[in-house]
Amino acid sequence: MNVLILGSGGREHAFAYALRQSKVVDKLFIAPGNAGTALCGTNLPLAPTDFAAVFRACRDLDIDVLLPGPEDPLVKGISDYMADASISDGGKAVFVAGPSAAAAKLEGSKDHSKAFMYRHGIPTAAYQSFGKDNLSEGETFLNTLRPPYVLKADGLAAGKGVLILDDLQEASVALDEMILSGRFGAAGERVVIEEFLHGIEISVFAISDGKNWQVLGSAKDYKRIGDGDTGPNTGGMGAVSPVPFANDTFMQKVKERILEPTFRGLQQEGIPFTGFLFVGLMNCGGDPYVIEYNVRMGDPETEVVLPRLANDFGEILQMMQAGRMEEIQIRSRQETAVGVVLVSGGYPGDYPKGKAINIQQDALPEGTICYHAGTSDSNGTLSTAGGRVMVLSSFGSSIEAAATLSYKAIAAIRFDGMNYRSDIGKDLIALTNTSE
Ligand code: AMP
Ligand code: GLY
Repeated sequence: MNVLILGSGGREHAFAYALRQSKVVDKLFIAPGNAGTALCGTNLPLAPTDFAAVFRACRDLDIDVLLPGPEDPLVKGISDYMADASISDGGKAVFVAGPSAAAAKLEGSKDHSKAFMYRHGIPTAAYQSFGKDNLSEGETFLNTLRPPYVLKADGLAAGKGVLILDDLQEASVALDEMILSGRFGAAGERVVIEEFLHGIEISVFAISDGKNWQVLGSAKDYKRIGDGDTGPNTGGMGAVSPVPFANDTFMQKVKERILEPTFRGLQQEGIPFTGFLFVGLMNCGGDPYVIEYNVRMGDPETEVVLPRLANDFGEILQMMQAGRMEEIQIRSRQETAVGVVLVSGGYPGDYPKGKAINIQQDALPEGTICYHAGTSDSNGTLSTAGGRVMVLSSFGSSIEAAATLSYKAIAAIRFDGMNYRSDIGKDLIALTNTSE
């Protein structure tokens, strides 16, 4: 099986790393990839949203499976495009391990996903959605809620379209700015206002072949730039898998109340889901509520979920393609995985690129995986090429043991302006200690 991965982050390096070890994968390509993916396969200079070029590459390289990492190509319809293009050129079908545009709307539109959850009785925060046509009703709705106020741009806003505000007046101004002044561009022309959920967040990952589905794992990510969850939001500064409170009882509720009605609901609506579903949940006193759906794997969650997988990841993709998901028994290593992200100075704001990265290979702990994100290699010189630069994932018998190894690995890496959070997993350790 020949595979082409789309994307260039740590998630895509984790895919490539797992597929490189697969017994069923022959050739592996990554577009555009990074310096880490180049060690696992061949990088191609292609943009994931240039569908025509991606299709040509699939034909030229005899690709069997296309695995999109980020949401953008999925929401823009890469699965539909590849299916149509395969039919019209009469060659073999390129299987896309990701949903159709119709199914990807679960991530592409918050208004759509909230309405879907309501239709199928899936637990989520109470909400209403507003646009230019009913803006004044939005003001009235805000008045009925208790602070903090949660306002979400309907469309994709690179993870920045959610505002959580304590002050009613501020919330009302923000609503006006989103709808009338284009604060988040077209993505914010419609705004979902919802009830604030109190609890601890957790992400659950599932895979589906359009008929059957399986849970791949759980993870917690750390979105804020600063220790103790302070400062602006980022793409993710670290992750832990599994999450200690996601025990059998909790996961059973997630399966029965959320995953089953989600996959069944999509089927009933004629839009079966093929690919990876990432459900962002709030654990409210032991009951899961959906905060958001994503139609792909998370980053950096993939960097802790995939290396724990005991299955051959290539075989999982094969079974997804064959529609035989129910035959797979997902198995995970016992150890906990902790991933810590190294970022460029200034991230998530402006940051420099091209800083030389120095890795003292012999000081890296055994078993730690150094996933690349924003890196590039020019003639053997490794340098920074993005905000998130690397993810150090380690394994241990506890969160503490795994985190200790990741931080030990970080001590062996250096680049100008390097920044990271020093508290990944600490909240979960404290939580486990208090509940014992
Ligand atoms: P989203 O893009 O919908 O995942 O929202 C971004 C972040 O905002 C989430 O990861 C939560 O931390 C927070 N958030 C979103 N919706 C809610 C809510 N209803 N209650 C509490 N926190 C929320
Ligand atoms: N880490 C959050 C995401 O991938 O959306």
